[in-house]
Amino acid sequence: MTTIPLRLGVNVDHVATVRNARGGPRPDPVRAALLAIEAGADGITAHLREDRRHINDADMARLKAAISKPLNFEMAATEQMLDIALATAPHAVCLVPEKRTERTTEGGLDVIGQYDYLLPYVDQLSREGVRVSLFIEPSREALDAAVSIKAPVVELHTGAWCHAVEVGDLGRAEAEFARIAEAAAYGAGRGLEIHAGHGLDYETARRVSALPQVAELNIGHFLIGEAIFVGLASAISRMRQAMEQGRALAL
Ligand code: PXP
Repeated sequence: MTTIPLRLGVNVDHVATVRNARGGPRPDPVRAALLAIEAGADGITAHLREDRRHINDADMARLKAAISKPLNFEMAATEQMLDIALATAPHAVCLVPEKRTERTTEGGLDVIGQYDYLLPYVDQLSREGVRVSLFIEPSREALDAAVSIKAPVVELHTGAWCHAVEVGDLGRAEAEFARIAEAAAYGAGRGLEIHAGHGLDYETARRVSALPQVAELNIGHFLIGEAIFVGLASAISRMRQAMEQGRALAL
């Protein structure tokens, strides 16, 4: 099997989390995005949450204006977000489920239950030239629904796997990884572009990069955390190395 190029999207949400802890302008997520691109990111991801807990509306507009690489706008599938996304005109939108009380995105989008709502929603974005991705659980049912909704891209939720690895539950980790591997192959077979993300670190990114169908990883929390110790550029270049090492195993 020929492998496809593997891109890294760097999520800058938590630069804004630190900024908002003090309410001033620093650290600036746009500065982090520019540095990330210089260090080898293929794109920038930012999640405009409904409660604006990290990235805000002005950040999104500034990111779009400042960066030379694709902007991946993560958002809940609401009417308000649709208006903002259409005004921002990002390269891509990744639709995620959102609960106000959660610390981070828990679980994948309910693509089956929300089918009737998502079908025209995705169509509207697509007609405006935005590449739509659905953040879903790695299951055949969710992949089939994504195909019917006519989303060109899915991002497989790697959170459950990464959590199992983190807590040392190896049996669960292997089962979760098998689900992701199976979903990547099945989804690509159905014509979907496959992305993966949530909770990835160097080790898990290396492993998921070995899946030949995966075209993009979106990584935030770990990289911003590592940046405290080694700097953002160094964390990103180590991440790229890990991805390349993983990818070499897919050849
Ligand atoms: N992909 C999606 C769809 C997400 O919602 C998130 C978290 O905002 C990420 C990737 C990045 O996850 P993490 O910050 O755990 O690397």
